[in-house]
Amino acid sequence: MNTTLITGASSGIGEAFARKLATQGHDLLLVARSEDKLIALCNELGRGQNIRAQYVAIDLSERDAPARMLAETVERNLEIDLLINNAGFGSMGDFAELDLELELKMIDLNVRSLVELTHRFLSSMRERKRGSIINVASTAGFQGVPFMATYAATKAFVLSFSEALWEENRSYGITVMALCPGVTETGFFVASRMQKPPARFSQSSEDVVETALRGLKRGKSSIISGWPNLVMIEMERIVPRSAVLRAAGAVLRSHTKKG
Ligand SMILES: NC(=O)c1ccc[n+]([C@@H]2O[C@H](COP(=O)([O-])OP(=O)(O)OC[C@H]3O[C@@H](n4cnc5c(N)ncnc54)[C@H](OP(=O)(O)O)[C@@H]3O)[C@@H](O)[C@H]2O)c1
Repeated sequence: MNTTLITGASSGIGEAFARKLATQGHDLLLVARSEDKLIALCNELGRGQNIRAQYVAIDLSERDAPARMLAETVERNLEIDLLINNAGFGSMGDFAELDLELELKMIDLNVRSLVELTHRFLSSMRERKRGSIINVASTAGFQGVPFMATYAATKAFVLSFSEALWEENRSYGITVMALCPGVTETGFFVASRMQKPPARFSQSSEDVVETALRGLKRGKSSIISGWPNLVMIEMERIVPRSAVLRAAGAVLRSHTKKG
């Protein structure tokens, strides 16, 4: 049975992906830690749309979680033809003073589990010569972001990794795309215990998902959600990198101190 696997589907962008794809007839395998939210969403989508919605409640930052996810799909006889690696969290503050364990857990979730899930599910997509992977990066991945150093670096990894895999997999009929949202109205900042960074422009999860699905249809290697974010990233390309870092540092230093 062809199924879409969405990590971080219990809220925010992942939940919006689930809702949108259910209306398009995708069977779903939803993944996050909050079992109660996943059960409620599966019941709602299974009842409302003519699809099969299942869940796995798991902490993807745990070392064996991606292997357990693959085993679950084999046991349930599911073929994953769209993988959306969306689960992630962030942190904000002076890196030297941040909780090291949490920074490492962020790398385990945002990077390690994403790489392992991609590798494990890509193998069967290659055999079938079809499939798609959306890896959720961020506009934060286009430059270093002082006071969000680890988070931005995890997203730079996701962006670079996904773009490279786009080229490696094109000839197999598989699209790998990095989705780069800017500030989006979700529970991300509360869950990450971060203040929302100052942004004149923010988007809804639904808008981000529309952009992602449009980009995937066009076979893009990466897509920035929201034209003001696109303009900002394009402008950064012509400014010296140190100037971008100083400007971001000035905004986020004062912002972090307020917290
Ligand atoms: N919001 C923004 O402004 C923004 C901007 C750019 C990029 N992004 C990226 O978008 C993605 C989705 O974030 P969001 O904004 O939708 O935030 P969100 O509402 O906080 O959603 C995060 C999702 O990840 C899940 N998750 C967190 N830790 C997990 C773990 N250890 N194991 C399994 N699942 C876990 C959460 O579910 P549980 O808590 O139930 O596990 C939740 O479903 C993230 O990768 C984020 O970096 C967000």
